[in-house]
Formats: sequence, structure tokens, C-alpha cells
Amino acid sequence: MTKKTYYITTPIYYPSANLHIGNTYTTVAADALARFKRLTGYDVMLLTGTDEHGQKIQRLAEAKGVSPKEYVDEIVAGIKELWKMMNISYDKFIRTTEDYHVKAVQKIFKKLYDQGDIYKGKYEGWYCTPCESFWTETQLVDGKCPDCGRPVEKTSEEAYFFRMSKYAPKLIDYIKAHPDFIQPESRKNEMINNFLKPGLQDLCVSRTSFNWGVPVTFDKKHVIYVWIDALANYITALGYGSENQELYKKYWPADVHLVGKDILRFHTIYWPIMLMALGEPIPKKVFGHGWLLVNGGKMSKSKGNVVDPVVLVNNFGTDAVRYYLLREIPFGADGLFNNEIFINKINSDLANDLGNLLSRTCTMIEKYFDGIIPVPSEKEAVDSKLIDIALDTPKKMEKNMNDLRIPDALDSIWELVSAANKYIDETTPWILAKDADKKNRLGTVLYNLSESLRIIAICISPYLPETSEKMYKQLNADVVSWDSIASFDGTKAGTRIHKGEILFPRIDLDKKIEELNALKQQNSTNIPKAKACKKEVSIDDFEKLDLRVAKVLKCEAIEGSNKLLKFQLDLGKEKRQVVSGIAKYYKPEELIGKNVVVVANLKPIKLKGEISQGMILSAASEDNKKLFTVSVPGELPAGSTIS
Ligand code: MSP
Repeated sequence: MTKKTYYITTPIYYPSANLHIGNTYTTVAADALARFKRLTGYDVMLLTGTDEHGQKIQRLAEAKGVSPKEYVDEIVAGIKELWKMMNISYDKFIRTTEDYHVKAVQKIFKKLYDQGDIYKGKYEGWYCTPCESFWTETQLVDGKCPDCGRPVEKTSEEAYFFRMSKYAPKLIDYIKAHPDFIQPESRKNEMINNFLKPGLQDLCVSRTSFNWGVPVTFDKKHVIYVWIDALANYITALGYGSENQELYKKYWPADVHLVGKDILRFHTIYWPIMLMALGEPIPKKVFGHGWLLVNGGKMSKSKGNVVDPVVLVNNFGTDAVRYYLLREIPFGADGLFNNEIFINKINSDLANDLGNLLSRTCTMIEKYFDGIIPVPSEKEAVDSKLIDIALDTPKKMEKNMNDLRIPDALDSIWELVSAANKYIDETTPWILAKDADKKNRLGTVLYNLSESLRIIAICISPYLPETSEKMYKQLNADVVSWDSIASFDGTKAGTRIHKGEILFPRIDLDKKIEELNALKQQNSTNIPKAKACKKEVSIDDFEKLDLRVAKVLKCEAIEGSNKLLKFQLDLGKEKRQVVSGIAKYYKPEELIGKNVVVVANLKPIKLKGEISQGMILSAASEDNKKLFTVSVPGELPAGSTIS
């Protein structure tokens, strides 16, 4: 019989910084869901990857003095390490710089252009580089990006546009007819009321001001807008647009795209419209989870409040981190990350409730039955109570997981953990052990505890895979299938257990918090690393540059830009116009009469419609707060060569 398929995706991450625990959250949740579906018999495809194009990446690479590809290669390797550390069982990792993806995106763009859904026009508006988003004047909030609140840049350029407006009514109908498509419910209303109802504008889907992107095949100076490139990953990863469409036929449409609420708009508006235009099916569900907050604010690199998943895993282990994320953060709403709550949870739920249950049970089996799981005999009422809860657990879990209520699924497992602990208190095996006539009863109690623990180990396997394995080993359980927990008899009496290490040692809260604080201080007082040197060049390479002394004749601001200054320069035998992004550091009049250094043979470009023939050299401090143009003494005549 062919298995039912389940296709789940995470967002593909920007390789712009080391990921923090907030980004890790989406992937851990997707992994738990994927593992649960595999456990319950599905043929699962879990896709993750990296979103490697765009101006943001190009700038970061430039700042580091490496090529964008070199830059992303290094970070992507780190991201893959992190997923290994978090035990993410992805089936495929897509990189948007991979050839098959690039080709498929180009095909998609061409098809949409050929059928008239993409057309050429002129873009005038605002762009938020960190979010890679275009905004109209009216969408800005206090003149800043409505998503992240950071400053936006004015852009005006020839561009391709996607006729979003044409598909908006169809999308509204689709959302209404498919109440499950956008989840949770509150976010659906936000999408309809804030974005769809006010009317959709056509989306600008190409850029010409940078080149780190997928080129438009029929108009090479354009690269495809990074969100079109990124969203397409969900189908190109399955071979869409390639020779081999087998995986695409098998897994598409996706069962669920798991995304953070900040990128829900792209997934529930642009993405379905792209698919509608391509004539392809729309994903069954897009789930927008909340944010992980620290001290009330969103965790983000730019705010400097990130919690490093590597530090957490090194200190507490992968499963403790996974547990906190999956059980404590309400799936769908924002949740808090706090070290104190985290450590208390490890101590109470993992060390006390789960760890002790296993270790007490194994100790008693060793002590009273020489380490062999005894044969059960007649049931008593107290046994039936435990058994009923144990048999109910997988049913509750399944219901909750299918509704994407991950913390509730864990709640139901911990109901069984508590019930088993209570069962020990109620049956008092240590008293039964004192009476030789009660040996059978004691055997029944310890069998029931072993079987409850086997069921618990299977149930926690999607969330705490390492712990589950450790429990199987200690219980020496070889029947670990989902089907085997539909009845309460999968443990084989006569099995020798192997009592092992404590699952979660208790943590001294105050001591650990002190250690973590010390670690934070150490990090914050770290001397920033010196910028790595750019790649070595030969003297011939250097000789290619034509560096000249130039006198500043005129300098003025450029309208509509708070970054650029326009210079008229005297280079001895000729005069030139150069545009330079240093307005933040100099008032125009400050530079007039100065002798600056210019790269004179740089290919001219247009910036904000102004031609720039060369580049003025300058030096900036590490934090970019200070910048000075490189100057030479006034007595050197304009046009002198620098070598
Ligand atoms: N590259 C895009 C996604 C393209 S998908 C076709 C992107 N990348 S990201 O690296 O910035 O973000 C990846 C995921 O991390 C997003 O789902 C985002 O919502 C999530 N998170 C980023 N910060 C977060 C928190 N503080 N808390 C929870 N999730 C967070 O967006």
C-alpha cells in the first residue's frame, strides 16, 4: 500500500547572520511535526534551506571584502551545523544559488512574462533593504518601513511588474472557500482586512541597482526580485521546472508552510497568486507562528538581544531546548524566552517528572526483579485508571498535532507522565516489596510502569528524539511503533532492562544563571574581530586601478536621497561628476577645495539618475559611525597619479 504523503516546509533562511533561537523555533517546530507524521505512517518531505540572493547579502559580502558566493557558502555551512545540533531531520536542503533552482526561477519568470502577467514599467517608491520589500508612500509608517520600522530608501528605476491586481478577487474567493488555508484565524483576518481589501497593487519583481540575484534571461540587466526567487523554492526543490517532476507530482501541493507572522503576507498573497498564474495548485495551509520575545521585544540581531541556540544546547542539551520551544511557546502567539523559566522547566518537567519516573522504575525492577521486567497479573482499579490515560494519550496527541497545537500535544503526554508518577505514590511498590505474598502485585505494578514508559518514549520521539532513544535503550524496548501503543501490552515481560544515566540532571538555578551572565559579559566585552583581509591580488591586478588626485570644485546634496552627495571634480586635464554615499558624514560645503583620491577608471554608473564617473576613496571606523575621505596635500596638482 502506498503511504499518504505529507509535505512540510520551513522558511528558507537569510544567511545574513548566525541564527538565533527565534529563527531556530520555526525549524524545530517543523521538525517535530515532520517526525510526528513519519511516526504515524506518512511519507514525509521536510524541506528547509537558505535564501541567498538580494542586496542585503551583496552588501554584507562587500563589507566583509569577499564575493557574495564566498560569503554565503561559509554561513550556510554554519546553518547546516546548527540544524545538526538541533537534530533537524530535514529531507532536503535547498540553496537558492543552486543551478537547478536558478534555472527553474528563470523559466517561471519567462512564462509569466510570456503570458502577460509580468510587464515592464517604471518603479518609483521606497525600498526597505533589510526586509527586501517595496513600499508605496502611503504604506510607510512615519516615513519608515511598516514591517521593521527601519529607514527606507527612495528608488526609481525601470522594472518588471507582476499583475497582482488581476488575481486579487480570485484570491479573496479562494481564502473564503478554504477556511483552513491561513492559520491561525486571527492572522487570516489581518491579511484580508489590511492587505487584500484595500486593493492590491502590482508588485515590482525585478531590480537593476545590484546584480546578486537570478538574472532575467531576456533582459540581463535585471535580476529577479528576491521574494519571487525565494518563494519558488517550495516547488523548485521538488523538481518543478526541471526534467524530472516526479517529486513535484508526489508531494505538491504542500500540506503546510510553517512561517513566522512577519512573512505571512508573502506566503498568503504573493505566493498563491504566483501559483494561480502558473496554473498550479495552492498549498493546503500556511501557518503563521508568533515571535519569540526577550524582555518584551522581538529577538533580533539588530536589537542585540539574541539568545544563541549554541550556548543553550552546550549548556542544557538539544532536547531541553527543543522542549522549551515546543511546550512553552504558545504555537501561533508570541512567547517569552527567559533563562529562569527555562531552567525551572527543565528541573520540574524533565528532571523531576520524566527523568525520575524512568530512574525510579528501573531501580525498582533491578532491586526487586534482578533487572528483568516481570509478568503482569490481575488488574486493579488503580491500574485501569493509568491504562486508560495511557491509551488516550496517542489519540489526544494526534488530534492536537493535526490541529497544529504542538504545546497541547505535549501537555497530553505529560498528563501520562504525571499519572504514572501518581501511580507509584498510590501503589507504593516499596511496601509491596516487603511482603512476599504481594510479589505478583508488585510485578504487575512494575510491568504497568514499564509499559507506560515505553508509550511515553514513543510519544515524545517527535519532540525529544534523543531522550526517546535513551529511554528505549534503558527499557530495552524493541517494539516502538505508533501502532504498538494502541494497546497496553507492547512491553515483553522477561526483558532485561539496562538502567543508564540520569536523563536530565537537576540544575542549580542560581549557579547556572551566574554562569550564563558571565558568558554574556565575556561576549559583550570581546574586542571586535579585525576585518579579514580581502583575497590576495597580484601587482598586475593592482596596476589595473587608476588612482588620481582630484580637487573638489563643487559638492551638493541630491534631492530625494539622504545618503548621496554629487561632486564636480577637477582631474587636471578633465572635469568629472562623481556621486558618493557619504552625505551622513559631511555637509556638502565641507569638502569644497579639498584634494581627494579617486578611482578614475571605474565603470560609470547611474545613482538616483545622476551619472557617477569614478569613486572617491574614504576610510570608515569598524562601526561605521565615523568616515573620512582620503585626502592628499593641497600642493599636489589635480590629476596626479597615485601608485
Ligand atoms: N528569507 C526569508 C524567508 C523566505 S521563505 C520563502 C526570511 N528569512 S529569515 O531568516 O529572516 O527568517 C526566517 C524565519 O525566522 C521567519 O519565519 C521569521 O519569522 C522567523 N523569525 C525571525 N525572528 C524570530 C523570532 N524572534 N521569533 C520567532 N521567529 C522568528 O524571512
